Amino acid sequence: MSFSVGILGTGRAVPDQVLTNADLEKRVDTTDEWITSRTGIRERRIAPNDMAASDLGALAGRRALESANLSAEDIDLIIVATITGDMPFPATACIIQDKIGAKNAAAFDLSAGCSGFVYALDVAKNMVLGGSKRVLVIGVDLLSRVTDYSDRATCVLFGDGAGAAIVGAVADGYGIIATDIGADGAGAEFLKLPAGGSRRPVTDRTIENREHYLCMAGNEVFKFAVRIMGDSTHRVLAKARLTSEDIRWFIPHQANIRIIKSAATRLGISDDRLFINVERYGNTSAASIPLALDEIVESRTLNDGDYLLVVGFGAGLTWGAAIIRWGGIIG
Ligand code: ACO
Repeated sequence: MSFSVGILGTGRAVPDQVLTNADLEKRVDTTDEWITSRTGIRERRIAPNDMAASDLGALAGRRALESANLSAEDIDLIIVATITGDMPFPATACIIQDKIGAKNAAAFDLSAGCSGFVYALDVAKNMVLGGSKRVLVIGVDLLSRVTDYSDRATCVLFGDGAGAAIVGAVADGYGIIATDIGADGAGAEFLKLPAGGSRRPVTDRTIENREHYLCMAGNEVFKFAVRIMGDSTHRVLAKARLTSEDIRWFIPHQANIRIIKSAATRLGISDDRLFINVERYGNTSAASIPLALDEIVESRTLNDGDYLLVVGFGAGLTWGAAIIRWGGIIG
């Protein structure tokens, strides 16, 4: 029997604690006006000290299982897209496997920054084509853990969250119909966590130099993002033989309202088809796209057969876009 590979259910989880622009005004030399006009962000969620990526990721994963009417034992692979896993190793996917009781699942993490979820969708699709039955894909990041709250250029941007999707067989003609993933490693320097790896293990010196915090050349990432969101969207539309008019929901990585708007204008995407929640969560990295996807599913503005286009960019530098034809769930 021929089949396609699509999304069987979605879920999300964010911490309760809200960090507003007014809160940040008390910590660094910034203003609500600057943050709102330059980024579109009004507030973000911050995980409490006792919450790690696996906690939020497991919650989102369980909710995705519920929405797909599946149990954890139905899953044969877990892929967790993250750059802020519980520990450098073991994989956060393994910790989540144990937490949710997915005892039949293989598990690994994938590091592609904010493009991680789209990368993981592409891998999951190919694993299902190769014989896996159901893959739990989770995008989770707690960027608050690696953010320097004395650096006004970065601390206003990031928040914590998780989103998940179950990937499996759907009816022919539905599902993930085209993807475009890629990387430009020459831009690796522009967004990085300098210390804590084999290049520069953590020492008193690296801590003194604040090298255990995320470090970013914002303008470089901005230029890359605007260009690549357009290019990757054009490529994935061409692969799917669609035009931007065919897309019901355009779901860009939620990093900065100016990046989103500029890409949407160039692509001719009208506001009623452009999903934006960056004002409530800031940039949640690998969680951003699945969080948005789950909010759209919950809003009930999606019909069987609608086309969704997700597109992201991130550390690496990486990018990823996918077109999903919604629905086609088999029995
Ligand atoms: N409050 C007030 N002033 C600020 C703040 C702040 N929070 N941050 C920076 N400024 C100042 C700067 O110091 C600078 O002052 P100067 O002109 O006196 O030097 C001025 O504002 C302008 O700074 P720019 O960096 O040019 O501001 P820009 O308009 O480019 O916005 C921003 C900066 C928001 C970081 C933007 O470059 C951006 O969004 N870049 C993309 C970042 C991104 O998306 N990263 C995530 C990638 S995904 C991942 O994998 C994690």
